[in-house]
Amino acid sequence: MKREIRGLYFSHTDERVALLLLREREREKTKTDLEKMMASNASSTTTTMVFRPTVSNSSSVVASSSASSSSSAAGRRSPIMQNNKFSNNNNEKNRILNRRRREKRITRGNLAVNNAITRPEIDWSKLGFGLTETESMYIAECTIDGQWKVGSIHPYGNISVSPSAAVLNYGQGIFEGMKAFRTPEDEIVTFRPDENAKRFAEGAGRMSMPPVPKDIFEDAVKKVISANRDYVPPVGVGSLYIRPLLIGTGAILGLGPAPSYTFLIYVSPVASYFKGGQLSPIDLIVEEDYHRAAPGGTGSTKCVGNYSPVLKVQLQAKKEGFSDVIYLDAKENKYIEEVSSCNFFVVKGKTIATPALEGTILPGITRKSIIELARDKGYTVEERKVGLDEVLSADECFCTGTAVVVVPVGSVTHRGKKTVFCDGKIGATGQMLYDELTGIQQGRLEDTKGWIEHVPKDYHL
Ligand code: COI
Repeated sequence: MKREIRGLYFSHTDERVALLLLREREREKTKTDLEKMMASNASSTTTTMVFRPTVSNSSSVVASSSASSSSSAAGRRSPIMQNNKFSNNNNEKNRILNRRRREKRITRGNLAVNNAITRPEIDWSKLGFGLTETESMYIAECTIDGQWKVGSIHPYGNISVSPSAAVLNYGQGIFEGMKAFRTPEDEIVTFRPDENAKRFAEGAGRMSMPPVPKDIFEDAVKKVISANRDYVPPVGVGSLYIRPLLIGTGAILGLGPAPSYTFLIYVSPVASYFKGGQLSPIDLIVEEDYHRAAPGGTGSTKCVGNYSPVLKVQLQAKKEGFSDVIYLDAKENKYIEEVSSCNFFVVKGKTIATPALEGTILPGITRKSIIELARDKGYTVEERKVGLDEVLSADECFCTGTAVVVVPVGSVTHRGKKTVFCDGKIGATGQMLYDELTGIQQGRLEDTKGWIEHVPKDYHL
C-alpha cells in the first residue's frame, strides 16, 4: 500500500532516506508530514519514491508519473488530442522516459531528491524566458453556436488540428499573458486574473470568437496553476507564466469564423524577459519604416497576428545590438506607440506620461497597475500622445508588461543618435514602481487593492 506525501509515493518507509529528505526539504509542513509518517512506520526497509506533481480525479485527467496512469490519461484526451497519434505516441514515450530518468535520480538520494520532492529538476538560477514544459495543460472546447463548458486538465503535449483550422489559415486566435507567484508563506497567488478574463473576452469579440465566460476563465487558470504548482519558482526567483489561448480550431476554407474553438492554457516557469537580468536597462531603437498597428486595426487586441509582423525589425535591431524596438504611430510617424512586447512610460520630474489607449496599443494590465501605483505615490500620470521629442528629453523612461514587469530603458537611438538615460542605470521612479508592483505580486507588501487571488492547494481536485 503506497502512501502519498506531497506528491511522493512511499511503498515502505526508510529511516535513512526519510532523514535525508527531512534535511533537504524546504517546507516545514512537509517535514511535519514526514515525521508523522516515520512515527507511524517504525520498522521499514526500502523506499520507492515517485515524483508526481499533479493528482487526477474522475472528471479530469492530469499528469502522473506512472506509465499506466499516463496511458489512461491519453485514453481520455480531448478531441483535438485524440487524432494526433504520431505526436501523442512520441509525447507519451518521452514523458515516460523522462519520468523514469527522474525517478532513477530521485532514488539515488542526493540533492536531486530535494529538487524532486518539492519541485521538478529545474535549475532556478538559469531560468530566463524560455519555455520549460510542465506536466499539464487545460483544454476546453466550444462550437461557434455553443456555450463554453468547464474544461479539464490534460498531460502537456502537442495538439492536433486540421490543416484548414481557422487559426492556421486566417489567424483567428488570441492569447493572454499572466503570472502566478510563490509568496514567502509558500502560497501561490495570481495577479489581477479578472482583468485578463475581461481582456480575453474583449479580444474574442474583436476576432469573432465565442468569449470565454469570466468564471470559466478564472476557474481554468486556477486549475492549471494548481496542477502545475511545483513549477512555480521559489519566492523571488521568478514566476509561473500562464498562457491562455483561444483559437479557431475548426476547419474552414472560405473566409469566415471557424465552426469550433479551443480554449487552452499552458504554463511555464520564467524569470527575466530580457537578457541581462530583470532590472538591467534595455537599449531601444526607434523604428520609422514599419508600424505595429494602424487605427481601426487590431493593435489593442492580443491576437496572434499582432506579434509576428514585429519580428522582422526586432531581429534586425537585435543584430545591431539593441534589445528591442520602439514603434511610432502609423498616421504621423511622430508619437510613441509601444515596444514589441510592452508599454512605454516617460518620466519628467513628478510627471509620468504614457501613450493613451486609442485602439492601436495594448491595454496592458501592468500598465494600468503602474499608473495607479504612481498616482498613489504622488506622481501626475498623463495618458496622452507622447512625442518622440519628449522621450529624448526625459529624465527617465521605462517599459511595462506582464512578461517584462517594469524594465528600465538605458538608451534610445533615433536616426543614429543615442540618448542615454540615468547614466545607463535604472532610474529612481522605475525602481520604486518595480519594488511596489513586485512587492504586491509576490505577497511581500500588503495587497490593499484586492489585486491578488489565492490559488488553493488542491483546486483541481
Ligand atoms: C506578455 O507580456 O505577457 C506578453 O504576452 C508579451 C509577449 C510578447 C511575451
